[in-house]
Amino acid sequence: VSQSDICLMNIIRAEHMGMCFGVRDAITLATKETASTPLTILGDLVHNETVLSNLRAHGIKFEQEIEAVTTDSVMITAHGASEKSINEIKARGLKVLEATCPLVHFAHRSVAELARDGYHPVIIGKRDHVEVRGLTGDLKAFDVVLSEADIENLQERARFGIAAQTTQPIEKVQRLVGIVRKKFPNSEVRFVDTVCRPTKQRQFAAVELAQKSDVVVVVGGAHSNNTHELVKTCGRYCPRVHHVQFANDLRSEWFENAGIVGITAGTSTPDSTINEVEQALRQLADNVCNRN
Ligand code: F3S
Repeated sequence: VSQSDICLMNIIRAEHMGMCFGVRDAITLATKETASTPLTILGDLVHNETVLSNLRAHGIKFEQEIEAVTTDSVMITAHGASEKSINEIKARGLKVLEATCPLVHFAHRSVAELARDGYHPVIIGKRDHVEVRGLTGDLKAFDVVLSEADIENLQERARFGIAAQTTQPIEKVQRLVGIVRKKFPNSEVRFVDTVCRPTKQRQFAAVELAQKSDVVVVVGGAHSNNTHELVKTCGRYCPRVHHVQFANDLRSEWFENAGIVGITAGTSTPDSTINEVEQALRQLADNVCNRN
């Protein structure tokens, strides 16, 4: 990388990025609770190793299945759970701590109202995702769709009530709602927009960032779904997108002729990691510029 290239590098941040309030609140709740009583978190709180090992250091346990829990208190993550599964946990004599995000609660209420009003619930989301399992767990009949092909398989109903997993891209959700309306012109289709505000803000901010940047660095866990989505979204507007987990994943050759470098991060990425990546980027530029 030539000295002049990297010396001119300008680093900008997406207007909205990183952890949402729902996940932050869940982490605060878990940390507070574990100070007084041993706690197990059921399922994946966030797909970020730094966050998870910090919580483990506080003595918090993680289990996927209720059968494996050995503590008296169990926390439901921000993704929520169905009434049915919460009652099953209570029936085991365990104390349930709910960290369900209020915006996931809104999605639960919306789906319940649609079903109550006689609409056949259709959830736009990932069938096996814990949030979608929670959204559908109390329903007698429902469908989960994520693509046009899934909609092709829907059976005609007089009334469809559509809601979405809170973290689905809003354009995709709107497109799929349009496809349902078109495929079933004789059905009444009611759509409740349950994509959460932080998700929308992050998606819009990522597009804006990618449009302005020569190179985008997306910071997030290797297994974080929304981080991968962000990489894809940014890639549509900027050809040079790199996904890093930590600051030392950065490579100076990525920034050749990069006037503007944008930083964004997945919703499970802690602020400390984002700051370290930004610091390392500045260091990279400084090292080259001060070499002579
Ligand atoms: Fe976060 Fe709540 Fe949205 S957990 S992603 S703000 S639904």
